[in-house]
Amino acid sequence: MSRTDRIVVLSGAGLSAESGLGTFRDVAGLWTRYDLNEVATPEGFARNPNLVHDFYNARRANMAAAAPNAAHAALARLSTRPGVTLVTQNVDDMLERAGARNVIHMHGELSGALCAACTTRWPAPPVMAPDDPCPACGVSATRPDVVWFGEMPYRMDEIETVLSRADLFVSIGTSGTVYPAAGFMELAREAGARTLELNLEASGGHFDEVREGPASETVPVWVAEILGT
Ligand code: APR
Repeated sequence: MSRTDRIVVLSGAGLSAESGLGTFRDVAGLWTRYDLNEVATPEGFARNPNLVHDFYNARRANMAAAAPNAAHAALARLSTRPGVTLVTQNVDDMLERAGARNVIHMHGELSGALCAACTTRWPAPPVMAPDDPCPACGVSATRPDVVWFGEMPYRMDEIETVLSRADLFVSIGTSGTVYPAAGFMELAREAGARTLELNLEASGGHFDEVREGPASETVPVWVAEILGT
C-alpha cells in the first residue's frame, strides 16, 4: 500500500446526485434546463437579478429538503483523519450536514449571501431578492455567495498548496470539464501523487485507478480501505 498520509479529495455534483440534487451535464442536468449564461454569470445577474435569485432560491429549497447520502457520511468520517483535505465544487451543505468540517467550497455555498458593494458575507435567508439590503452597508447589491463562470474560485492558494504535497488525489462525481478544478489531477500527479477516480462512469481522465459506480457505493468502500475499518 503506497503512502496515503496526505489525501486531497475533489468532489463534484455526482457526490450529491443520490441526495436528489441535480448534476449539471448529465441527462436532465441543470445546464440542460437553464442557460448558464443567464443564471451563473455576473453578466446574467446584471441583466436579470430576479431570475438569478429565483434560480438559487429554488436550489436552496432543494438543498434544505435533501439529505446527505452514504458518500457524504463516509467523507465526513474520512475528514477527521489528519492529512485529509476535502475540496468540493458543490455549493450544497451535504458534507457539513454529514459532519464534515473545514470543507473547501471553491465555488462558494448556497447557504451564503454576499454584498457585491462591500463584500460583507452573512448566512443566506431561504429566499433572497435583488432589493434585499446588505446588513452592513445597506446597499441593495446582495447576491448568492457562489462563484459564477468568469469569476475566480475561492481559496485557490490553499488548494494548490495541498495538491503540491498530496500522496493521493481522489476525484469523486465530477466530469472534469470545468477549470481550474479540471486541472487538479495533473497538478497532484506532477507532485508525485497517485490518482483515483470514483465516478458513475469513467470521465476519461488519465487516473492511475478508476472505480465506476454510484458514489453511495464506491465512496464508503474506498474510505473503509483508507481508515482500515
Ligand atoms: N455517483 C457518482 N458519480 C455520478 C453520479 C453518482 N450517483 N451521478 C452522476 N455522476 C457523475 C457523472 O458521470 C459526471 O461525471 O458526476 C459527474 C457530474 O458532472 P457535472 O454534471 O459536469 O458536474 P460537475 O463536474 O460537478 O461540474 C463542475 O461546473 O457548472 C459548473 O460550477 C458548476 O461546480 C460545477 C462545475
